Amino acid sequence: MAGWRAVVGVGGGIAAYKAAELVRALSQRGIQSTVVMTAAAQEFIRPLTFAALSGRKVITTLFGSTPDEVLASSVEHIAVAREHDILIVAPATADLLGKFANGLADDFLSTLYLAFDRQVLLAPSMNTAMWLHPATQANAAALRARGNVVMEPEAGELACGETGPGRLPEPGRIAEEAHYLLARRHDLDGETVLVTAGPTREPIDPVRFLSNRSSGKMGYALAEAAAWRGARVILVSGPVELEPPLHVELVRVETAREMRDAVLSRLPECSIVIKSAAVADYHVANVPTQKLKKTATRLSLELDPTPDILAECGAEIERAQRGQLLIGFAAETENVVAEARRKLKAKRCHMVVANNVAAEGLGFESDENEVTLVTQAGDVIEVPRASKREIADRILDEALRLRLALYSRS
Ligand SMILES: Cc1cc2nc3c(=O)[nH]c(=O)nc-3n(C[C@H](O)[C@H](O)[C@H](O)COP(=O)(O)O)c2cc1C
Repeated sequence: MAGWRAVVGVGGGIAAYKAAELVRALSQRGIQSTVVMTAAAQEFIRPLTFAALSGRKVITTLFGSTPDEVLASSVEHIAVAREHDILIVAPATADLLGKFANGLADDFLSTLYLAFDRQVLLAPSMNTAMWLHPATQANAAALRARGNVVMEPEAGELACGETGPGRLPEPGRIAEEAHYLLARRHDLDGETVLVTAGPTREPIDPVRFLSNRSSGKMGYALAEAAAWRGARVILVSGPVELEPPLHVELVRVETAREMRDAVLSRLPECSIVIKSAAVADYHVANVPTQKLKKTATRLSLELDPTPDILAECGAEIERAQRGQLLIGFAAETENVVAEARRKLKAKRCHMVVANNVAAEGLGFESDENEVTLVTQAGDVIEVPRASKREIADRILDEALRLRLALYSRS
């Protein structure tokens, strides 16, 4: 993932200091930054901060102060344009949006913008009235029509004391968007991928529930990986602590019944269905409407099985004959491959991703995983320990390969 280079253009807005956090967030994703500051930006934050964070010279002017510098810098904007993969401007001021939209080039950043022929990501930040002004809106629309990505400012309380849209999106979100723009591929263009993730919660009474240790990390990694490869992604998620990835449609559910209804209602529009959620097997038979009191010395809960969502999907996919691919997960603590094979047949899946959740440091709450892919074509593929995000890409690679194998036969 490493090796990308970004120009981070900093405009003269009150959020200029947040660009420092952006440089760090990019570096954590393996994206190296060269920072360019407008003259106004330097009124808000000093170049030294960015020099220290990026480890590189900060560009502050189009013209140097000596003839030699002028000569060197007269072509620097061209060199910088060629050496970088993405231009990110954060905060993008109303002024910069206007200049970029109209092709004005009176400082380094606006000159660089014209010379830059790769991906441009703009993160506007300004007072709400300035953002909503028809001139700014027209500039943003013109830039989007040109292929630049203009993020929506967030709504909230602004530095000027007013409330409304205009806040700079979180630096982590800007870095995530930049990473997506750099890394995205197109081998899932035209696909709709439904991913289920996280645990379900089955109520015991109005304040208590039965659940499990699933963190949702594997499902969220799958949703992000599919979106970054061009798919339209529907993420049906139980309650988790994770931020949803950008560019996915999030459907929040709580119980197994809600998850079933959400999945089955969206099934017809999906080409690949990946069921990574840890759905409860049982729910409480008769949930009382009032909180249970601590009076009994022993309390028994009567449990009924929850709907078998994977099996229902398998049956429906087989009936509908739309060439959809169904991928299930088997989180086991013993006989992992044998259990995966059993599940593959019983639920009519095309692939089962088996993982041993009893393995040290792996499984539910970990950022890493180690899985075995068992396919309907008879393959057993060991995927060695890697980040859940890397495992997600491997699962999608194998899904595409498997679909080709299964459907080119028939
Ligand atoms: C205290 C202060 C805060 C400002 N904050 C913003 C802002 O958040 N967004 C914006 O578009 N302009 C803001 N401006 C106005 C810009 O600084 C001004 O338009 C400037 O010319 C922008 O220059 P640049 O686009 O070259 O960076 C602010 C001005 C001042 C004095």
